[in-house]
Amino acid sequence: MKKRKVFVLNGPNLNLLGKREPEVYGTESLSGLLTMLRRRAKENGIVLRTYQSNHEGKIIDRIHALLGKGYLGIIINPGALTHYSYALRDAIKAVGLPAVEVHLSDIDRREDFRKVSVVRDVCIAQVKGLGPEGYVRALDLLLKKSSSL
Ligand code: DQA
Repeated sequence: MKKRKVFVLNGPNLNLLGKREPEVYGTESLSGLLTMLRRRAKENGIVLRTYQSNHEGKIIDRIHALLGKGYLGIIINPGALTHYSYALRDAIKAVGLPAVEVHLSDIDRREDFRKVSVVRDVCIAQVKGLGPEGYVRALDLLLKKSSSL
């Protein structure tokens, strides 16, 4: 049987999870978070592919590379790109895969500039403020979406 795949993208500064502002983002590292998510995905017969970059263009290239590769969807935490990257927004829209936007923190309860997400309306959902569990929620949403197609 063909493997069902989900792509998990993390943007700038998320490589520092666990060390970076732990009072905001928690103490779990990105690799710990992805290990937990991979386990949860496996229970649902899903294989995860993951990528993190601090570079907008590299993230966009990775999104383009998903075209025609049979992914169920994308889980993306764009970091600060969320708030201003129209190029990222266009890339998500261009590939046409269902994407769920995730934020560890509740971006609506922080500085004003974080309240704006330019990717929000090209994603099927936004999950925020749940810490690492938000990525699991995003996976559930993608699975629900794929079973309703
Ligand atoms: C973040 C929120 C963004 O505003 C911030 O720039 C990040 C992380 C989050 O996961 O809460 O880098 O996306």
